[in-house]
Amino acid sequence: MSSFFWWLFKALTWTVMKKIIASYCGRLSKLFGKSTGSARNLKVIFNDFPGGAESFELMSRFCYSNGRTVINPSNISLLYSAAQFMEMNISVSGTHNLLEETGKSLEEMKYWTWSELLMTTKKCQDLLPFPNSTGILEKCVDSLIGRITASGEPSPCPSTSSPDSSGARLSCDTRSTESLKNSFSRATWWFEDLLFLSTNLVGMVIEPMVSKKFDHVIISRFLFSLPEIKVLYWHV
Ligand SMILES: *[C@@H]1O[C@H](CO)[C@@H](O)[C@H](O)[C@H]1NC(C)=O
Ligand SMILES: *[C@@H]1O[C@H](CO)[C@@H](O)[C@H](O)[C@H]1NC(C)=O
Ligand SMILES: *[C@@H]1O[C@H](CO)[C@@H](O)[C@H](O)[C@H]1NC(C)=O
Repeated sequence: MSSFFWWLFKALTWTVMKKIIASYCGRLSKLFGKSTGSARNLKVIFNDFPGGAESFELMSRFCYSNGRTVINPSNISLLYSAAQFMEMNISVSGTHNLLEETGKSLEEMKYWTWSELLMTTKKCQDLLPFPNSTGILEKCVDSLIGRITASGEPSPCPSTSSPDSSGARLSCDTRSTESLKNSFSRATWWFEDLLFLSTNLVGMVIEPMVSKKFDHVIISRFLFSLPEIKVLYWHV
């Protein structure tokens, strides 16, 4: 394509795109509403858009599909944060808005598999600090703690993992052979899965467990299994 047509194509798609996206985003429609005269030349730059290009693309896809799209644990952190950031609480003629849709999906968190919950938590962690103010991170952490403490009579394989989540199945298989022998190592089934947590998030998970009187020996074992702590420990 010659550069002129490429330019025309970009200008046209942006004009159309802007309309579609703005009809779903309170934040954009406010901006465009203010600048009717010079809208053609308006440049919108969101340096602090949570999740950057990836999340912007997911959000646009939601708008293009008229709000009919699947929201699942792999993309809910990005979509929910984008929806919060862009104030996507507008309902376009009969379709649902993204904030409402992601909110509904979040309510189904209790039915998610363990590995889906881990995936969403990890994505939230990557988006920090933004999700901390929206409540999604708290929901993830509550759910993680709930499942760990509920497995008081720990099984080698968390009952919440479904057979279709290959990641969970794999780690369960290796766990069951290694750790069926004693109940202590069975109570630690979640250690390895939470190694990705940053120091801040470890605090968010561990503090409530301590106050809920979760077995302190297991908690301190977990803390000593963390990579940062090991380094600290060996340097002392
Ligand atoms: C979220 O992920 C699912 C499955 O990967 C996909 O089908 C869906 O289109 C995604 N949602 C959006 C808004 O892109
Ligand atoms: C959407 O959110 C904005 C900002 O939080 C608020 O001012 C507005 O009233 C909300 N609109 C609807 C339709 O809920
Ligand atoms: C989230 O914010 C709270 C205070 O509002 C803070 O205590 C906590 O450490 C923060 N979590 C992360 C992971 O930044």
